[in-house]
Amino acid sequence: MQYRHVPVMVNEIVDYLDCSPGKTYVDGTLGGGGHANAILEAIGSEGFLLGIDRDQDSIAHAGKSLCQFKPNFRIFHDNFTHLPQILSELHTTKVDGILLDLGLSLYQLEGSGRGFSFMRDEPLDMRMNPEEGLTAESLVNTLSERDLADLIARHGEERRAARIAKRIVASRRHAAIRSSLQLAEIVKQAIPPRHRRGRIHPATRTFQAIRIAVNQELDCLERFLDVAFDCLNPEGRLCILSFHSLEDRIVKDRFKTLARGCTCPPDFPKCVCGKLPQISILTKRPVRPGHAEVRINPMARSAKLRAAERLGEEGP
Ligand SMILES: C[S@@+](CC[C@H](N)C(=O)[O-])C[C@H]1O[C@@H](n2cnc3c(N)ncnc32)[C@H](O)[C@@H]1O
Repeated sequence: MQYRHVPVMVNEIVDYLDCSPGKTYVDGTLGGGGHANAILEAIGSEGFLLGIDRDQDSIAHAGKSLCQFKPNFRIFHDNFTHLPQILSELHTTKVDGILLDLGLSLYQLEGSGRGFSFMRDEPLDMRMNPEEGLTAESLVNTLSERDLADLIARHGEERRAARIAKRIVASRRHAAIRSSLQLAEIVKQAIPPRHRRGRIHPATRTFQAIRIAVNQELDCLERFLDVAFDCLNPEGRLCILSFHSLEDRIVKDRFKTLARGCTCPPDFPKCVCGKLPQISILTKRPVRPGHAEVRINPMARSAKLRAAERLGEEGP
């Protein structure tokens, strides 16, 4: 299948990353290289881009689509949580900007054959890196009803999680759940008929929850935020595009903590921890795509962009 994905808020991202000739950037979620292409254009023949993706198929495509920029980029098949190790392999520790464009590409959703979509009948895999971790099939067929309900409630913010988990467990007693369409139908049956015709498909939140769990997406984001700003030069920028409230909340909260510095309880009369602000937040509110972009690319509709800058050595 041909690679398909329309990059979201490209101009805004190039602006917030402050891309200019000769700078060095990391695209931690390279996908098909849409954003990488725009960054490489902006940094010119003296700049350098390091692209990372955990999906081998996407990387193969990005390698081809970026070939005109050789030798100004390198691609790593890896998890963005390993950024410090990857930089040290390149004999460096810091870059001028990092981008994460979280979630799935259109290719993964519609063309990878890995069961990400409830509209397609495919094996229930859902791993972005098919060489790593447990499949969705393994999770839905082995977790206890309680763990399934908890997972669907937490990662899917699905209020009918308990009913859905119960239905999954009842159904797998007859036969193992092996395909995406089979799972979508089971979830649908768990929803009362009058609530099945909402704005979104009844299986949307459950599929999101299982995908997040399979790929440990929130954990990866937390671990990345632990190290990301240490990988930036002073005044280096971090941009994160997220597509659901769970990710956006993690980014928002972490940016706030790092921008505040002091971690003393609010009732302390004065600071005793001595921690200084490490970053300045560039987006008071998340930046959203305009109507025109959403009309052309409906996948952009839930996107939220947050950006922050690492403070110089002398602090704020
Ligand atoms: C929305 S797509 C990125 C599309 C890309 N910006 C473009 O313009 O083509 C998200 C990509 O991030 C990758 N990804 C998600 N989590 C990752 C992680 N923890 N480490 C590395 N890549 C990851 C996915 O495999 C997917 O290819």
